[in-house]
Amino acid sequence: MFYFIIRKIMKSTFFLFLLSACTLFFSSCTAPSPSDDASRRVEALLKRMTLEEKIAQMNQVNYLGNEEAAREAVRAGAGSVLNPIAFANVPLPDVKAVNELQRIAIEETRLGIPIITGRDVIHGFRTIMPIPLGQAASFNPELVKQGARVAAKEARASGVHVTFAPMLDISRDPRWGRIAESFGEDTYLTSVMGEAMVKGFQTDNLKDSTAVGATVKHFIGYGAAEGGRDYNSTSLTPLTLRNVYMPPFKKAVEAGAVSVMNSFNDNDGIPMTGNKYLLRDVLRDEWGFKGFVVTDWNSAGEMLQHGFAKDSADVARIAVNAGVDLEMNSATFVNNLKTLVETGQVSEKDIDDAVRNILRVKFEMGLFEHPYFDEQTMKKLYLCPEHLAVAHESAVESAVLLKNEGNILPFGKAVKKIAIIGPMAHQPHEQLGTWTLDGSRRAVVTPLKAFQDDKSYEVLYESGLKYSRDRDRSNFAKVKQTVLAADVAVVFVGEEAQLSGEAHSLANLDLVGAQTELLAAVKSTGKPVVMVVMTGRPLTIGKNLKDADAVFYCFHPGTMGGSAIHDLLTGKANPSGKLPVTFVEEVGQIPLYYNHNNTGRPSKPITKSILYDIPQYDLQNSAGYVSMYLDAPTEPLFPFGYGLSYSRFTYSDLQLSAAVMTMDGNITASVKVTNDSTVDGTEIVQLYIRDKVGSIVRPVKELKGFQRVRLKGGESRQVEFTLSPDDLAFYGIDHTYKAEPGEFELWIGTNSKEGLQTSFTLTK
Ligand code: BGC
Repeated sequence: MFYFIIRKIMKSTFFLFLLSACTLFFSSCTAPSPSDDASRRVEALLKRMTLEEKIAQMNQVNYLGNEEAAREAVRAGAGSVLNPIAFANVPLPDVKAVNELQRIAIEETRLGIPIITGRDVIHGFRTIMPIPLGQAASFNPELVKQGARVAAKEARASGVHVTFAPMLDISRDPRWGRIAESFGEDTYLTSVMGEAMVKGFQTDNLKDSTAVGATVKHFIGYGAAEGGRDYNSTSLTPLTLRNVYMPPFKKAVEAGAVSVMNSFNDNDGIPMTGNKYLLRDVLRDEWGFKGFVVTDWNSAGEMLQHGFAKDSADVARIAVNAGVDLEMNSATFVNNLKTLVETGQVSEKDIDDAVRNILRVKFEMGLFEHPYFDEQTMKKLYLCPEHLAVAHESAVESAVLLKNEGNILPFGKAVKKIAIIGPMAHQPHEQLGTWTLDGSRRAVVTPLKAFQDDKSYEVLYESGLKYSRDRDRSNFAKVKQTVLAADVAVVFVGEEAQLSGEAHSLANLDLVGAQTELLAAVKSTGKPVVMVVMTGRPLTIGKNLKDADAVFYCFHPGTMGGSAIHDLLTGKANPSGKLPVTFVEEVGQIPLYYNHNNTGRPSKPITKSILYDIPQYDLQNSAGYVSMYLDAPTEPLFPFGYGLSYSRFTYSDLQLSAAVMTMDGNITASVKVTNDSTVDGTEIVQLYIRDKVGSIVRPVKELKGFQRVRLKGGESRQVEFTLSPDDLAFYGIDHTYKAEPGEFELWIGTNSKEGLQTSFTLTK
C-alpha cells in the first residue's frame, strides 16, 4: 500500500512540476539566469556542452511505435521527439507519456535540456477545420488565423510544442495528392494565408502557454513534382523559384516561424536536404532566418537513393554542411558527426550554429521554465463550443458555389422532403480529409446528420454507393424511387480522405467508381439535383455538370462540414468562397494556372475540342499555329478566384487616384461594388495586375490584393486598394528584386477572368 501511494505521488503532475521547479532552482546556480535574452543563454549553455551533447541535440527521434528506443535516445540527449502521442482512436492523448519523456530529458541527462516535441497538426487537432485548400477558398486570413489558434490550443495542451505546418508549396497540379494541404496555385494568396496561419499557431508571444511553433514546409519546390507524382524531381529555374515559390516562405520567416522543413525533391539535380545555396545563402544570409531547419522524414537518408551521397556519413556531411540543423527520424547525424568533425569534414562551428538554432527556439518558447504539459487542460479545450464555431464558420466560408441554375438554391419554402444520396453523405472520418491524426470522428457532423437534426425537413436517405470507388449499381433503382418521393435530391460525391494527401497522387481526376452514373440516375428522375463535392483536390467534374442544377465544391470540410453544408443549402448562410486553384476540364491540360506567361503565340480562348468539329482540310487554318490543344479546350472549367453567391454583385466606376505611379509613391484603385439583389452577402473583390513589358516575361495576370466586402441587399460600397512599387516588384533579368518602370494593366473583379480594366504607368 505504502509503495502504491508513493508510486502514485511520483506519477502525479504536481510531483513532476515540483521536480522541474527543483531542477530549475538548482541548475540556475550554474545555468544562465532566466532574465538573460535567449541568445545569451544559448551561448552560456553551448559553452558547457560536449561535442556528443551537441550532436544529440540535432537528433529528432520518432516516438510512436518506437517508444523504448525513443526514451533511450532522449536519455542520450536527443533534442527533439516527433509524434510523442498516440493516434486518434484512443480517447485522449497520453500526456503523461510525453511528460515522462520530458522528465528523462531534464533529470536523466547531464545538462537537463528539455526536448522540443513535434507533430503534424495540419488543419486542426481534435477539432478539424477544412483542409488548407478549402481554407484558402475562404480568402479570409483572419479565419485561417483563428483556425490555427484553435489547433494550437488543443495541440499544445496535448503535448505538442511545434507543428509541421503550414505547408506553403505552390500547387499547380491537382494530380499531386498534397495539393490538399496547400493554399493552392497563387503566390500572393499562399503568402497571405501562410502568414496568418503562422501567427495563429504561434501568437505574438512564443512563451504563451497556448502557442505552438510553426514549421513552414517544404522548402522548396516540392509542389512542382514532375507529373504530379509525389516525391518526384523538379526543374524549377532560379527566377521561377524566386518569383513564384519562395515569397510565401520569406513572408512566413518574416512572420517569425520558428522552423523550416526542407523538401524531399531534388531540383535541377540537388536534393533539397543538401542544397547549401538555398538553406544557407538564401534562408539564413539573405532572409535572416533564426529558427531551425529540420529535414523531412528521412529526407537526409534518402540522399542515398537520390544518388547524391555514397553512405550514411556522406549524408550527414552533406546535410550539415548545407545547413540542416535537426534530422528527423533517420540517425545519420548521431551516428557520424563526431567522426566527421574529428576528421575535419564538418566544422564544429557548423555544429554549434545548428545547436544554437535549436536551443534558441527552446529558450524563446520558454521550455526551460515550463517544460511539462498540464495533463488536465486538454479535456476542457477539445471540441469546445468556441472551437466548433470556428470550424463551422471555416467550413461555410470554404465552400464554393460553382453553379446555381434557375436559382434552385437556397431551398425555397416548397422544399419539404429532401433525398440525401451518395457515398460521401455520411462518412465522418472521410469528411475530415487528409492529415487528421488526432481528429475526433465522433464529433463530426455529417450532412446527413445535420439534415436529420433539422426537423423542418423530412429526410430520405439512400447512399446508392457504399464508397466512392464502389461500382455496384444494384441500388440505383432504390435511389431513383427515393428521389422521386422527394422535392429535391442532394448528391454527395467525391473522394475519401485517403485518395489525397502524401503519396496519394492520381493520374485520373474524374469522379471514381460509379459516381458519375449515380448522378445521371438521379438526374433522370427529373427532380432538381444539387451535387455536393467533397474532395482533397479539384476534380474534372465538367462532364457531371449537366446532371446537376446546382454544384457546391466543399473540399474536405472538417468536423462541422455537415452543419455548414446544411446552412448553405437552406439559405441560413450565403456562399462566399472562391476557387484558390484553377479547375481543369481535362487532365491533359495540366498544368493550367491563371498566372501563366503569354507565349509568343498566345492561345485562343477555346472552350472545347475542335479536332472532330472541323473538316480535315480546314484544320490548319482554323486552329492556326498558336499555343493550344486540338482535342481539349485552352480555357479552364472554372478559373482561379471563381465562386457564386446567392447575392448578385456588380462592379462599376473603376478609378485610379493617378495615371502615374512614381518609385517613391503609390496609387489607389477604387471601384464601386453593388449588391444588386435582396440577399445580404459577402463578395471577395479581387485586384489583378499585368506588367506589360518586363526584363523577363511577366504573367498575364497576378493577384495583388483582395478584400471581403459584406453588403446588405441593395447596398453599394466604394472599395479601395493602394498599390506601391513594392507590389509590382519581381526578380528580373539581373536577378535583383525591383519594380521596373513601364505600363501596367489593372483589373478589379469577381474572379481572375472577369473584371473592370484600366492601366497606369510606373515612372523612374
Ligand atoms: C511529410 C511531412 C511531415 C513529416 C512528419 C513527411 O512524410 O512529408 O510533411 O511533416 O512526414 O510526419
